[in-house]
Amino acid sequence: MGRGGCPGRGCRAGPGRHRSAAARATQGARRYRDAPAALAHAQRGTTLIYSRIAGTGSYLPEKVVTNADLEKLVDTTDEWIRTRTGIRERRFAADGETTCDLAFYAATHALDAAGLKGADIDLIVLGTTTPDIIFPSTACLLQHRLGANGCAAFDVNAACSGFMYALGVADQFIRGGQARRALVVGAETLTRMLDFSDRSTCVLFGDGAGAVVLEASEEPGIITTKLHADGGYKHLLYNPVGVSAGFRDEPNHGVRVMMTGNEVFKVAVKTLDRIVGETLEAAGMHEQDVDWLIPHQANLRIIEATAKRLSMSMDRVIVTVDRHGNTSSGSVPLALDEAVRSGKVQRGQTLLLEAFGGGFTWSSALLKY
Ligand code: COA
Repeated sequence: MGRGGCPGRGCRAGPGRHRSAAARATQGARRYRDAPAALAHAQRGTTLIYSRIAGTGSYLPEKVVTNADLEKLVDTTDEWIRTRTGIRERRFAADGETTCDLAFYAATHALDAAGLKGADIDLIVLGTTTPDIIFPSTACLLQHRLGANGCAAFDVNAACSGFMYALGVADQFIRGGQARRALVVGAETLTRMLDFSDRSTCVLFGDGAGAVVLEASEEPGIITTKLHADGGYKHLLYNPVGVSAGFRDEPNHGVRVMMTGNEVFKVAVKTLDRIVGETLEAAGMHEQDVDWLIPHQANLRIIEATAKRLSMSMDRVIVTVDRHGNTSSGSVPLALDEAVRSGKVQRGQTLLLEAFGGGFTWSSALLKY
């Protein structure tokens, strides 16, 4: 082999080609270089790595469906929906509009807010229970649309805790030095699952997506996340249909939300009460240290119960359930982004995020924004 040729055994690449391969390798190394270095630093005990939110984004489909609109479809009233849930309206995805579409717009806004491009991201974790297709994951579909090809990308299904689980996972990747910039998304088209002959569930849900960009930082950032599940509660909230079980020859193939609402309500209130206590204790913090509660937006009465547990007045609680309904994995990041963009949530403030959903799953994150 001549001088300047590729040293690889049997490789016939000329010097020019070799240089470009080397350049590509260097570029790749640069992209991931800092994370292991920072981890080694952390292991020496000099600096801890945290993940911090560099930008937020969200997206709601255009179509607004009010309680009055639902009165025309099902045997319900605006008054019943408002007094039991706090919901006034929700959004429905347009025909052909998918979970990945909603995720893409939310992610683009979060990347813009962070001053980054898709190619800057080295991890995508997407919470959803309504993926576009079964595989590839919606995270992979999103990755390609954002031009982030090559980085790790996967979905997390934890029902309404999907975004919080995704946040917890991405935080661990960054703390462990495996990623420096993670895109974390919660996106759903849950109205596609609804059975409009079941008035007790179809009035509760809406479509939407939210996203955050997490970045490695020497300052917190996310202080702690807590993720829990108890599959023993499956019977209270579930979808009876999947690939290997349940397909039936009926409308929507039997896909629907099955819920024993009043039982879910009781467990949700008790469980969220416990997890906010556990989260504050793990961080060595107290109720009064929290500036904003950003809860899962399923039901205003559940939100009020958690706020009461924290002795927080409702003007320190972000509420979007009245306009969004329950957007499942989309709900917490949608509420967070709205709070950031409205100027309510300010840099340096302490936020407590929490969610509860089918599984049951329940989850929280305490963070400095
Ligand atoms: N419109 C009018 N009446 C309705 C109705 C609707 N959309 N849905 C149910 N009802 C009726 C029921 O048929 C029942 O009538 P009956 O007393 O004549 O039998 C009555 O309202 C009370 O039903 P119930 O289910 O006991 O109501 P509730 O006070 O528990 O409120 C929920 C129902 C769903 C709003 C409430 O249980 C809830 O929010 N649960 C938590 C759900 C949740 O957050 N799930 C997601 C977790 S991620």
